Amino acid sequence: MTQPVGFLGLGFYVPQRVMTNAELEKLVETSDEWIRTRTGISERRIAAEGENTSDLALKATQAALQDAKLKPTDLDLLLVATMTPDMPCPSTACILQAKLGAPQAAAMDVAAACSGFLFGLVMAQQFVASGTYKHVLVVGAEVLSRVVDWTDRGTCVLFGDGAGAAVIGRTAQGKILSTILGSDGTKVDLLKVPGGGTAQPASIQSVEARAHFLKMNGTEVFKHAVRGMADAAHEAIRRAGIQPEQVTCVVPHQANVRIIEAVVKKAGIPMEKVFLNVDRYGNMSAASTIVALCEAVQSGRIKKGDYVLLVVFGAGLTWGAAVLQW
Ligand SMILES: CC(C)(COP(=O)(O)OP(=O)(O)OC[C@H]1O[C@@H](n2cnc3c(N)ncnc32)[C@H](O)[C@@H]1OP(=O)(O)O)[C@@H](O)C(=O)NCCC(=O)NCCS
Repeated sequence: MTQPVGFLGLGFYVPQRVMTNAELEKLVETSDEWIRTRTGISERRIAAEGENTSDLALKATQAALQDAKLKPTDLDLLLVATMTPDMPCPSTACILQAKLGAPQAAAMDVAAACSGFLFGLVMAQQFVASGTYKHVLVVGAEVLSRVVDWTDRGTCVLFGDGAGAAVIGRTAQGKILSTILGSDGTKVDLLKVPGGGTAQPASIQSVEARAHFLKMNGTEVFKHAVRGMADAAHEAIRRAGIQPEQVTCVVPHQANVRIIEAVVKKAGIPMEKVFLNVDRYGNMSAASTIVALCEAVQSGRIKKGDYVLLVVFGAGLTWGAAVLQW
């Protein structure tokens, strides 16, 4: 019988520099108390000058390969989920490929914002299940500190930098039992970086309008995130053929503790089952879920046989969920 598709190895990397809420108090009119009570975030990591998304991705990938006991030349496909690529063209996956030394692999980016890791995971699953590829690398990597508007207190307190990676292949470890993905392109305006593409190419005007920074309608995103994640969680659990009480650990996209609390309440799962790292890293977009999964496995929070629910949400809008059995 063919083996299921799952996780051969996991790894992550976060930059050394820690930025606390107290530091943000000096940049914008905010307070540690406001940030902690409204979001659950205490600190985040900030990439060093010259440290780019592909550099974070490289370190996370090297850790995942070590965990999988594989070499860069064993990889067939590199997928990098990011909304902060090193440059608009070519893909960060190709830049990673050169740094990693994996000339035999195909490489491309996945653009699904904060949901990107899960979208990449589902793509990897298809390539492995079909027999097209044996080992697919999925990375979520972001340097959000370079697209955040450090004069906008409504967004700059929320985000951080980091990267996580997984090698997907034939294994019973982290077996993918069910997945669901969704998108709603009518809500593009709720969360976007408007400048730098063909709609608004870089110009003196676009820079003056701060169009190259992230813009967000936080209240609307909050509402859609709760609904989208709760519905996706429900559907993934149903498709896996298990009951909500059988879920051992929930690894959600880490945007805001209040969003996560509302999601698991709707899904009928107690907060004690949720793995959180948003307090230490903030929202790392595509990197959040995979870094959290790595930490949950490495800390022993997820054990063999456990049912794990991944649930994500992001700009687009995009959302998704998956049930794994570890
Ligand atoms: C951004 C977010 C934390 C704001 O929390 P909120 O409880 O909705 O707060 P509101 O937007 O209603 O703002 C309340 C007040 O706090 C102020 N405020 C906003 N950011 C602030 C900050 N960093 N410090 C202090 N006050 C702040 C607002 O200006 C507003 O003041 P006003 O009432 O005088 O206008 C919340 O909406 C959120 O998390 N949204 C989802 C964001 C997200 O997850 N995005 C990524 C999705 S992948």
